[in-house]
Order: sequence, then structure tokens, then C-alpha cells
Amino acid sequence: MLTDTLTQQEKNNSHFEQAIRELPTAACSIFLKGERIVPVSFDEEGEVLATGDSETIAKSFPKTIAHSGNRVLIASTQNTNPPKGKRVAVLFSGGPAAGGHNVVTGIKRVLGADNTLLGVVAGPKGLIKGEFFEISDEQTNRIFNSGGFDFLGSDRTKIKTDEQFEAVKKTCRDNGVNAIVVIGGDDSNTNAAILAEYLYDEDVQVIGVPKTIDGDLQVRNLLPITFGFDTATRVYSELVGNILQDTPSSRKYWHFMKVMGRSASHVALEVALQTKPAVCLISEEVQEMKTSLAQIVELIAQTVIKRAKKGINHGCVIIPEGLIEFIPEFKSLIADLNDALANFDEQMADMTINEKRDFIAQKLTPEHAQLFASLPDYIEEMLLLDRDSHGNLQVSRIPTERLLIDMVSRRVRELERSVRFQTQDHFFGYEGRCGAPSRFDAIYTYNLGLTAGSLVLAGKTGYISAFNAFPEGGKPLAIPFTGLLNIEQRGGKDEMVIEKALVKTDSPAFLYFASRREAWGSEDFFSSPGPRQLWGPTSNQLPITVALNQGYEDLMFTI
Ligand code: FBP
Repeated sequence: MLTDTLTQQEKNNSHFEQAIRELPTAACSIFLKGERIVPVSFDEEGEVLATGDSETIAKSFPKTIAHSGNRVLIASTQNTNPPKGKRVAVLFSGGPAAGGHNVVTGIKRVLGADNTLLGVVAGPKGLIKGEFFEISDEQTNRIFNSGGFDFLGSDRTKIKTDEQFEAVKKTCRDNGVNAIVVIGGDDSNTNAAILAEYLYDEDVQVIGVPKTIDGDLQVRNLLPITFGFDTATRVYSELVGNILQDTPSSRKYWHFMKVMGRSASHVALEVALQTKPAVCLISEEVQEMKTSLAQIVELIAQTVIKRAKKGINHGCVIIPEGLIEFIPEFKSLIADLNDALANFDEQMADMTINEKRDFIAQKLTPEHAQLFASLPDYIEEMLLLDRDSHGNLQVSRIPTERLLIDMVSRRVRELERSVRFQTQDHFFGYEGRCGAPSRFDAIYTYNLGLTAGSLVLAGKTGYISAFNAFPEGGKPLAIPFTGLLNIEQRGGKDEMVIEKALVKTDSPAFLYFASRREAWGSEDFFSSPGPRQLWGPTSNQLPITVALNQGYEDLMFTI
């Protein structure tokens, strides 16, 4: 009966979920001995990495730097004599991104039956509490190619206090853990770097895996992109493409669409290249050109009016999630707010939001207090929210799209009263993080997992596992954390962090966008990339920004 079939599809058993579980997902040939998965050795030495702060960083990481020499390692042979009996713990850290389950599966398969993989429950906090379970082959076969981080769960705890570090050490001792694999973004990999140094004398290895839909952990051609970016941008691009198709159909709305991506505008840029909207703002350009909020509003209002004069009363504006942090006057307001919130944390603990707003306003410089007071309540409140445990403003909760709609509406009315300007606002964020991984993310993450497991079996610690050369069959490699660390001011203090990779305004992807945007603004040039395909003509397509920035000749990958 149909109702029985429907009931059988509960708990991740839809026809789709059953089909993707079985979808062949290639391991790079270096991991294959016949049909069997084998680990690789990292026996080819690549470049030595350094940042402007390397000398200072070296003082805090003597052991891991002595181990790695800050040198990139490249896999070129199979590891014919891997150790047995290793107990490896794997955890997700930070926001979910599609493909995490394939990383876990890759690690499990390369460790094989002679070693044990432990799943840490709910992220770094599970490591502190010692919450683990042993992962079986049946479980990894079941989660293979599925989206989300639900198999283990995740959280944003930063391991920072002495007690927390001691707790992790105890967890490792109590559970006989020899290695930890942290699947996370820039902040989580920074935390992993510190953990690697701390656990060095315990003989506990720490390996990172580069995750985040934001795409802001990149190291030139060594690490062209993080996993999750492709799936998220394809989901958003489909949604934006559909809306773009709606605009000349209904002929009455301007859609303001904020897309996730935190500080960096990689996601916005990728979605713009996939869909060609009338306007796409790039935060990094706003910062570089010192564009004020009033100038941004003017740019959009002028585009609205220009199109209206041609009889086009519709259009789409893509807004990067972190835009507000890059507008010069807001950047300094936010820095001032961050200091005030950090310094008066205790005094404000029991205050209502209105009391907090009044109290904080007195702690700001007069110019900042004036700007703060001029903002609508819905923005003020979000600027006062607690920072996450890594000190980040919760930009996903700031409705920049609404602020821009309000201000552009006012400006269009001032300039041309007769122009019809009706709007809709959207925030595309959570829709893109947990969908089933695109083919790129599925294959990329499986190979990242195989690389991370191989690094553990090769006895390495203090590296991010990486996988590049996408159009040439792929190549596993390892990037030392310490070669990426810089000193940055966070929450009023100097901190060692992996620098966020932002959009570069001289990159091929940005320059191509800049060369087309005027045309896109003048009339409809949009195109719809359609839904992401797990089989079919576009299933082997790379993110456009990656292909352009890496100088590839083609959009397709060949792993
Ligand atoms: P990560 O950097 O941890 O991968 O998080 C990505 C992200 O999706 C950002 O784009 C977004 O700002 C943030 O998470 C929102 O997360 P939360 O819902 O925890 O605030």
C-alpha cells in the first residue's frame, strides 16, 4: 500500500536519500589498491609557509613547528606499513556544511578494521566532557553522501581556559585517544593548532579539515576552497535564479536578498556569477573604496531609477551577510561596541535590552553614539547581541536587507516620486548548509577524509588536510597550521589566528564580475543555474569563483 511505502520513507529513507547513499563517489587513484582503500604517505616536501608574524608565532608553537618545519607535505605514494591499534576521535566544530559525513566516512575507511574511529558528540564541548561513541562501518555506509552534521552534532565552543585544555587531556588519557580530527573553519582550525601544541607531549596528534560554507579559509592553490561552499552557493543560486525568473513575470518587485557567508563575500560573489543580478554588493570592495552607507543607498537607488526609465520596475540585489562590518562608519562603531561590550559585560548582565542600549550609548565616542542612535531598533538590538565564543558578531541576525530597503525606498521617493518601488526581502542562509552535498562537495570531502586519516596513520600532527588539483584527478596534501597563523586584535586583545581569506578585488573572479555588472544593472541579463545536479550535465561543475581564481581552463573537475 502507498501509505506503507510512505511510512518506510521516514527517518532519512526517502527515495532520494536511498539513491544518494548508493551513488558512486570517487576516491582519488592514489588511495586505491584495486577496489581497496589504502592510506597514503606524505613523502614529498612542498614549500615552507610563513606569515608576517611567523617569528612571534614560533615562540608559542616550538613543538609543532619543530615537527613540521612549517613545510607543506604532498602525498605521492601509498603507505604500505600503516600502524595498527590507533584510536582516533573526530568532531565537527562550528556551523554545518554539506559533506561532513563523507569526511567521517573517508577517515573510517582509510583507518580500516585495524584502528578505531570515535565520534565526539556535539563538537568541542563533547571533547571537553569526554562524550564519544565508536563509529561502525554500518553507520558510515548509512550517512555516506548525506547532508548535515546530525550524525555527531556540532557546537561553537572555543577551547580556551586552562581547565578546558586539562579536561581534553584527561579525555584523551581516559579513552586512549591517539589522535583528534577537527572538522572546522578558520576559528576551529586555529583552536586545533593550539590543541596540537598542547597535546604534543601526550603523543596525541591533531589534524584539521577545512570546512565552512563561507569559503573564507583558503590558501592560494594549496587550499582553493573549503567544503560546503559549493553546495550552499548552488542552493542559493537556484533560489536566486528562481526569483530572478519571477521578477519579469510579475513585473512589480525588487528583491533584496542577503546571503550567508559571515565577513567574506565569496558566497555573494559566487551566487552573482551564477545568476547575474541587477546589483551585488561586495563587502571587501566597500571597505577598500571606503564607501559609506549613503553611497551604497545612492548606487542602488540610481539603478532602480535607471531601470524604471526603461520601463523595468523589477530587479534583484544580493547583499553579503557581513556587509555592515565593512562599511567604514559601521566598522569603527562595531569595534567600539565590541570593546564596550567586553569591558562592561558584568555590569550589563541583568539589564533589559533598553537599559543596555542606553548604558552602552554612554560608553561610545560621541560620533559612534550619534550613529548608533540613528539606527532603527531592529539593527541596534542585533548589534548588542553577545559575540560568539570566537568573538564574532552574529551577522546572520542583522537584517541589513531591511535596512537597505528602508533607506533605498526613502531615497527613490526623494529623487523620483513617480517611480514604483515595491520590495521583498529574503535571507538565504540555513537553506544552504545542510542539503545533500553537491558532487563536488561529496567527492572533495570523501578525499579530505581519506587524507586526514592518512595523516593520522603517517604520525603527523599540526596539519590541515587538503586536496587540490581538481581538474587533474586531485592531489592530497597537508598544510601546517602554524604556517598560517597571524596576530590579530580580537575583543581588544592580541590573538593568534588563521587570517580569514576575504574576496580580493584584484582576483580574476572579482574582475570578471566587475566587468559585467554594469550591463547586469542596466537591463535583465540574468540566467538560472537550476537545481544542483547529483548526476547529469552540471554535476561535475566547480564553483565559478574557484575555477576563475585558480586559472582553470574549464569549469569541470575530473576526480
Ligand atoms: P562556520 O564559519 O562555523 O562554518 O559558520 C558558517 C555560518 O553559516 C556563517 O555563514 C553564519 O554567519 C554563521 O554560520 C551562522 O551561524 P549561527 O547560526 O551559529 O549563528
